[in-house]
Amino acid sequence: MGCRVQYAAIRMALPATVVALAACDTPMNALDASGDPARRIATLGWFMIVLSAIIFIGVVIVLAWAVSRNRRTTDLSPDLTPRGRGWIVYGGALMPTLVLVAIFVVAMSTLGMFPVRGAPPVLTIHVTGRQWWWQIDYLGPKLQTYLTTANEIHIPVGQPVRVLLTSADVIHSFWVPKLQGKLDLIPGDTNDIRLRAERPGEYRGQCAEYCGLQHAHMAFTVVADDSATFARWWRAQLEPATPPADSLTQLGQRVFVNGPCVVCHTVRGTPARGQIAPDLTHVGSRRTIAAGVLPNSLGALEGWIANAQSLKPGTQMPNITQFNGRELRALAAYVYSLK
Ligand code: CUA
Repeated sequence: MGCRVQYAAIRMALPATVVALAACDTPMNALDASGDPARRIATLGWFMIVLSAIIFIGVVIVLAWAVSRNRRTTDLSPDLTPRGRGWIVYGGALMPTLVLVAIFVVAMSTLGMFPVRGAPPVLTIHVTGRQWWWQIDYLGPKLQTYLTTANEIHIPVGQPVRVLLTSADVIHSFWVPKLQGKLDLIPGDTNDIRLRAERPGEYRGQCAEYCGLQHAHMAFTVVADDSATFARWWRAQLEPATPPADSLTQLGQRVFVNGPCVVCHTVRGTPARGQIAPDLTHVGSRRTIAAGVLPNSLGALEGWIANAQSLKPGTQMPNITQFNGRELRALAAYVYSLK
């Protein structure tokens, strides 16, 4: 009875798993590729899943056959007749060798396709991993078009983009499962990867190398837009920060530039020139704050400024507690207004 229940559970679970793997629209589903390199990795994944499933089924059948024959004897010594030796040589040595060689050849030929050759990149982006956020530098054709942002990478859809990867502290790993495989960000070294999104949309990325306490809270988003939308974003990001328009944000800006924020953060167009924390010039235009920890909203910003250490323990952002309620509200309103 128990056996039958288990069998039924397996019979239901297997197709459900395959369907879930193939069809579900999860933001980190590496089998739902939207870029050529990710698709090649997904193909390799499917090859290994199907091959191991076939082998597993074969082994279970042979095992069931072995268990069901000679049920009367308790003799467990190996069968050393020529037929028994045949099973050991072919099933125990030749078969695994063939399977492992096949997987090795297919995996190596997949690996040999990276970095994917093809059209030259239209854009170079320099990504620096930091504990625990992503510094994004757009290397424009001229110095005036250099651009620094954080945790959100915008690219034109359908175009190859070169992404250079390095780290300012420990080893991180850049992973956008739907677009590319993982590649490490190593201090003192620069790795090179290509991204090309085939469909417009938002692709979630995540640090994939343990890098300390908040490794799991080191997410980013790749936003692939049509070229007109991308160009609009690009021009808006090149602009200096919007000056505050009302009395609340004016107070917020005074609090910002006279307070501790400027030690770490830059807001282009103001005296804030700190270099060790995310550039906030257009932080209000980003989807999330704190590397994907919180949605970008006025309330989340207030909470983050006053109590970052409880939202992301260990982050370099200290709790800013010296302001009164009105100053804190004004500061958050100013930061949020930096669209
Ligand atoms: Cu950065 Cu894990």
